[in-house]
Parts: sequence; C-alpha cells; structure tokens
Amino acid sequence: MGEKIHLVVNGAEVDTEVEPRLLLAHFLRDVCNLTGTHVGCDTTSCGACTVVMNGKAVKSCTLFTVQANDARILTVEGLANLGDGKLHPLQEGFHMEHGLQCGFCTPGMEMTAYAFLTKTQDPNPTEEEIRWAISGNLCRCTGYMNIVKAIRYAAQKMYAAQPAPVERPTAVAPVTAPQQEPERVPVRVQGGGE
Ligand code: FES
Ligand code: FES
Repeated sequence: MGEKIHLVVNGAEVDTEVEPRLLLAHFLRDVCNLTGTHVGCDTTSCGACTVVMNGKAVKSCTLFTVQANDARILTVEGLANLGDGKLHPLQEGFHMEHGLQCGFCTPGMEMTAYAFLTKTQDPNPTEEEIRWAISGNLCRCTGYMNIVKAIRYAAQKMYAAQPAPVERPTAVAPVTAPQQEPERVPVRVQGGGE
C-alpha cells in the first residue's frame, strides 16, 4: 500500500503514492527519471546522491521519500534550468576550472556547493570554508584542488561585488648603494674687490 506524497521537484508539483521504504534517491531516479542524482554507496558516505531540500544539502540515499513530503527539492537538472538555458555558474565553474574527470561525484558536489553558496552569499569563500562545506562529498579522480577553484569561480560569478583578494608577496624595500656625497671643489672668484 502506497503513501500519498506531495513534493515540488525542480519547480514542478509532484503528487503520487510511494512505498514507505522507497529512498528519495531512487524516487528521483526511477520515478521522476532524474538520473543526474547518482548513487555511489547507498550508505551516506560518498555524497554522490546529494540534492538540495528546502535550501539544505541532503544525501538522498539517506532519506525515505515520505520524509520529504511537502518539501521543495532541487536536483542537478534543476540547477541547469536556473541558468536560463545556460550553464549555472557552478556548472560553468566545473567546466572552466577542470573540476571533474569521470563526473560521477559532480552532481553531488555541485548541489552541496549550491547549498553552501546560497547560504553564505559570499563571493570570496576561503579554501578552508569550501573544503569544510564539501567534506561529505568524495571524489575518487580529480583531487579537490580544481573542485575548490570551480566553487570559487561560481561564488564570484554569483555574488561578485568585490574582486577576490589577490595574494601578493610581501613587499621588500629595494636595496640601493648609499649615495656618495659629490666632491666639493673650491671655486676661486677672480677680480673680486679686496
Ligand atoms: S549514494 Fe548517498 S552518500 Fe553515497
Ligand atoms: S570526477 Fe570522478 S569521482 Fe569525482
């Protein structure tokens, strides 16, 4: 016997019945056909299944669909639509900064980053803040450096009011040789009175 649920998924109202044991990740993939949400571990470890629920990043393999009743869900497909037919700044950032290789972790990374950036609205998040935000998402290929760069790219594009601080080397005063006093030559003035 199914349970009635009502959700808003990427802006679309969904009214249906689901088995109480159906995980949100499987509901999105198998019922809504939104296969951008990946399932990597099914044990809350990898973050590939992350979606944004009511503004917060959640691991959809860890929630039953009935627990998301009446929630607003945003998946990576919805993220693309927010960009008015263009790539969302996060997607553009991952492209421009080479933040992916196989791409398996990418939807989850982007949704986690989306929840982080829309909460902080900071155009210049620090590397430490970004790494902390994505600490529940694992990438087995890329390493995290370019992912951090991609998220900083998006932060700038989404909220840039001020330019990102640029690290400059500490200024060192130029060393110059001490100036020599010019040699004074006595000047004899001729025909000068007494
Ligand atoms: S599939 Fe959900 S955390 Fe890995
Ligand atoms: S790009 Fe392959 S797992 Fe992250």
